Amino acid sequence: MVMDRQINTLQRVSETRAKLIDAARDILRRNDRGGYTVPTDALYPFQWNWDSAFCAMGFATFDIDRALTELEFLYSGQWASGLVPHIIFHRDADTYFPGPQVWGTHQTPPTSGISQPPVTASALAYILDMASTGPASLDPESDVMRRARALYEKILAYHHWWARERDPDGTGIVAILHPWESGSDNSPVWDEALGQVPATQTPFQRRDVTLVDSDMRPRQWEYDRYIYLVELYRALGWQGDRMWSETPFKVADVGLNAILMRDELDLIALADRFDDPANAQVLRARAARRRQGFDKLWSLERGLYLSRDLLRDRLVDVPSHASFLPLWAGTEPFDRAAALASELARWINLSRFGVPTIAPDTAEFDQRRYWRGPVWGIINWMISEGLRRHGFIKLADEIKGHTAALIQDSGFSEYFDPITGEGLGGGDFSWTAAVGLAWALD
Ligand code: GLC
Repeated sequence: MVMDRQINTLQRVSETRAKLIDAARDILRRNDRGGYTVPTDALYPFQWNWDSAFCAMGFATFDIDRALTELEFLYSGQWASGLVPHIIFHRDADTYFPGPQVWGTHQTPPTSGISQPPVTASALAYILDMASTGPASLDPESDVMRRARALYEKILAYHHWWARERDPDGTGIVAILHPWESGSDNSPVWDEALGQVPATQTPFQRRDVTLVDSDMRPRQWEYDRYIYLVELYRALGWQGDRMWSETPFKVADVGLNAILMRDELDLIALADRFDDPANAQVLRARAARRRQGFDKLWSLERGLYLSRDLLRDRLVDVPSHASFLPLWAGTEPFDRAAALASELARWINLSRFGVPTIAPDTAEFDQRRYWRGPVWGIINWMISEGLRRHGFIKLADEIKGHTAALIQDSGFSEYFDPITGEGLGGGDFSWTAAVGLAWALD
């Protein structure tokens, strides 16, 4: 009897899981616009840089060819300088602002002029892992390896762009020149630095707040400054050196630096795999500098990583989810990793579902507003896997369990309320589906 009941429960669990996996695949297929995936219908009708890298990993769990195509479409928007823009406007759509005319980058296909956290080397490494049963089993002459090799060259150029244009003095940490480049647009981490940026004088019409409740989205004062920065860089002809010297917003985002570090380590592994020792050596030297660069982001007072405002040369004393992302880079010494894990455990105890993007016991915490409190699947994935790498298995499993529960109870939402678990923002969201497939529901 007891045995029967146990078997029934197990069956129910695996049926639920199978249904969720079908639903996740279905979302990726429905958001496929013929080779690239939109993050969700209407709200984000183009190809976004880091969203696509996660989508590629989701696809890789059931369709290697389609996973590679996702990255190839993304890299079709790469600039001659190596920049991979944060948006590629493959087709027209009038449900998003700012569109290609506002960016005025004169690229084909049209693109934005700033970037986003680089995850494509990690995505390519993941695809190759999924494509092979063991490291030696992929024939170098195969279609998969040929395409992967071509992508590798482009990813290399993208990483050189980050080093050249966003760390011209070779300090080991790169800067973002727009909050959108962090991927966590309206995080309170930017409040002070963004407050120094003038508001645009050009009237404009946001589309996001006609599609999603405005209490879940960035506020108008932020948008006025986001657009000011776009207009400034457009006036500078999107020339990296001029943007670097004339920008009023220059922050070394700890999240982006950690993700870049991890991507660069995955790129080194790819360089070894593709037998490219000269580039592997350059990348290794750079990774060593980056590792040291992280010391500039460590706050002794907090025992945590923080972002650094480079124009005011000081740490931004606002911890956020990004403070824990160095775990994802995989390079933390034990004492720092332990300090991060213990603060993270405290944040999770303050909410029902982890990881909140801002500590729930601070004035900035806003449980529904975008990057000022809610939980994001991709962030959970990176933090949890980072914990696992450093040996904090129980906490890693807890975060994974929370992510699976959120998806099961509230669907594949863009993000989630950490207190109630409610799904927020856009629905049927591609990267949440990808997180389910490649990690949370496995
Ligand atoms: C928002 C997010 C950004 C994401 C984009 C598309 O702008 O802040 O990280 O890439 O939406 O999902």
